[in-house]
Amino acid sequence: MDQPSSLSRIDWVARSCRLLAATAAEFSRTRPFAGLTIGTGIHLEPKTVALLMTLRAGGARLVCTGNLNSTQQETVDYLRAQGITVFATQTTDAAEHGASLDAILAEKPDLLLDNGGDLFARAAERPYADMLGGTEETTSGRTRLLPMRDKLAMPILVINDSPIKQFAENKHAVGQSLFESYLRFTNRSTNGKRVTVFGYGACGKGTAACFRNAFSTVSVVDIDPVTTLEAHLDGFVTPLRAEAIRSADILITVTGYIGIVTAADLPLIKDGAILMNGGHFPHEIDVEAFRNSPDVAGVDRYEAEHIETIRMRDGRAFHILGAGHMANLAGPRPLGNTVESMDLGFALQTRCLERVAKGGLGKEACIIPVPADIDAMVASAYLDLAR
Ligand SMILES: NC(=O)c1ccc[n+]([C@@H]2O[C@H](COP(=O)([O-])OP(=O)(O)OC[C@H]3O[C@@H](n4cnc5c(N)ncnc54)[C@H](O)[C@@H]3O)[C@@H](O)[C@H]2O)c1
Repeated sequence: MDQPSSLSRIDWVARSCRLLAATAAEFSRTRPFAGLTIGTGIHLEPKTVALLMTLRAGGARLVCTGNLNSTQQETVDYLRAQGITVFATQTTDAAEHGASLDAILAEKPDLLLDNGGDLFARAAERPYADMLGGTEETTSGRTRLLPMRDKLAMPILVINDSPIKQFAENKHAVGQSLFESYLRFTNRSTNGKRVTVFGYGACGKGTAACFRNAFSTVSVVDIDPVTTLEAHLDGFVTPLRAEAIRSADILITVTGYIGIVTAADLPLIKDGAILMNGGHFPHEIDVEAFRNSPDVAGVDRYEAEHIETIRMRDGRAFHILGAGHMANLAGPRPLGNTVESMDLGFALQTRCLERVAKGGLGKEACIIPVPADIDAMVASAYLDLAR
């Protein structure tokens, strides 16, 4: 028998990403990225390693950065040890993050793999010759990049707009992951608690379901009446906004939009409430405005727990997890979405980048969903491995 070996979480994740492993084996024969540089701007955490190693197996040279507040040093160290160029720091500072994005674009990558539109938004302002296009992972990135479509004018496939990403990650995995994050940050119970979820898109649906399954009473607020009706018919409470805030022991934003809970809501927030965000950007809960409000007596920070307590002058206090950053990639030992969901989503990434690298997609393919044949191919491959 071999000696027992000591492995890391990166190894655990790599061995759990069976779809990516199969793709990497194929790519090492077909080499779709031979001679190409791929610039990536996506959370630097262990699951991303499995994606990046798959692209490298396909012959890509990689230059990588992360997103705000989600860069894990262990992942950066691992990638550098593999000879991959990484420009990234764990930061919440937009200027510091911007310097890393500039460093990626200075390498003039042939393809970009973006998450939130950080790289493409910069490339739209400072275009360079021979960029082939690439992929955008998120809803928020799509919303941000759509107005820049004329400037970008290159194939950009939006992974989020695949039905697979919608149900495997946004619906099932984000819900599980935000639920896991609430427990991980707080060690508090969910049963008997009143939970309000802002946003009943794919992510909100999974989040609301996970907390309901954990014996919470869940209210849903969505700006769209049709979506709110859907939540109502799914059996959730759908009070008016003010009542939904007033009643919440746990309040979760997952809309993708700015200013969902602001200082104007301070009078409504329940004593002891816990606020957290699952949306891509940390602007859904206006934490900065809370800190600076004249109605706030003080702020306490549980530094190691990444929990902040806002103490109101009227005696109430409430808590914010991870400073309003995406909770499942913040706080102590953040795990992010499940490995299986990311294996699927990242397999879509690899196939979409392969499609763009092959050429044949024109500028009319700028900000379009994943082609249906790629969805079918990835779904069949996953099912084959699961049978
Ligand atoms: N945490 C993660 O791991 C993770 C993973 C995937 C996506 N996301 C992010 O989660 C966010 C939501 O993604 P989605 O796929 O569910 O988006 P979606 O577009 O499917 O749903 C968003 C919902 O929010 C609603 N909404 C918009 N403004 C609102 C407001 N002011 N009040 C209440 N509801 C409002 C919309 O009507 C819509 O129903 C995005 O920022 C996305 O990037 C996070």
